[in-house]
Amino acid sequence: MKKDFLAISDYTSQELQALLDLAEELKAEWKAGGNEPVLQGKVLAMIFQKPSLRTRVSFDMAMRHLGGDALYLSPAEIGLGKRESIADVARVISGYVQGVMARVFAHEHVVELAKWSSIPVINGLSDYNHPCQAMADALTIQEEFGTLKGVNVTYVGDGNNVAVSLMHVCAKLGANFTIANPKGYDMPAESIAEARRFAAESGSTLTFLRDPHKAVRGAQVIYTDTWTSMGQEEEAARRAKVFPPYQVNAALVAEATPEVIVMHCLPAHRGQEITDEVADGPHSRLFPQAHNRLHAQKAILVQLLR
Ligand code: CP
Ligand code: NVA
Repeated sequence: MKKDFLAISDYTSQELQALLDLAEELKAEWKAGGNEPVLQGKVLAMIFQKPSLRTRVSFDMAMRHLGGDALYLSPAEIGLGKRESIADVARVISGYVQGVMARVFAHEHVVELAKWSSIPVINGLSDYNHPCQAMADALTIQEEFGTLKGVNVTYVGDGNNVAVSLMHVCAKLGANFTIANPKGYDMPAESIAEARRFAAESGSTLTFLRDPHKAVRGAQVIYTDTWTSMGQEEEAARRAKVFPPYQVNAALVAEATPEVIVMHCLPAHRGQEITDEVADGPHSRLFPQAHNRLHAQKAILVQLLR
């Protein structure tokens, strides 16, 4: 297993499946009364260049449940690459704590941090992908359908960081991935090429469409995310004009399979990419999915920090 957890594409399907199985075990253990303090004496520094609810709280609580501790370092404090070079931050912090979780704008910044750190570095979201989210998503799908193999997952919306890591985890673990996104908002060609290699190995299918109605036919999972990601705020008005046909609403959900579950990494922009009716309706798994961040990340922490 690698020192760092930076992207789904860095891990083999066996390693990812082992992490999911460990997450299930740790979740069951926690539900049965509490986790073993296997990370006692270990501290995770959490560096944020962007806001967060789920990532911040779930990593902090995961460390506490495992007997360790976490330090929150806000965008104003570290000034990663601004107040101090990333290489210097990495080498200093490596002498203080046992692991780092970082949420950054440019993916190369978390890669740089990992390169210069002697301790594990976990990507808590970059402009390229959101691998911890993808692990929680995969755990949610596995709990619902027993496996990812052969499950039809449809992503509707922007071809963003969340879409890329979801596509990669599906392709690695054998789920069939379909995306419907508007022209001009495709995932990076390189990420798609990687996914094609993973899908060829796992035997899953990849489908790239513009029409959300076609995309949800046969879907067992419908997934969406914000139309405007953090760092793209100046594009919000333009995006708000392009994306309305990609709203996940009751009419769209009705075109999928009867057992379809609806997922969203959150925060949700209700009335934009998802309606209240769907977010709070019987198909929604939004909150169990958010709670699974805790369990999926415990597995990553145990694997890397123990
Ligand atoms: N889904 C997710 O990463 O949420 P936060 O931005 O609140 O951490
Ligand atoms: N795509 C979103 C995900 C937020 C968790 C963003 O990058 O802002």
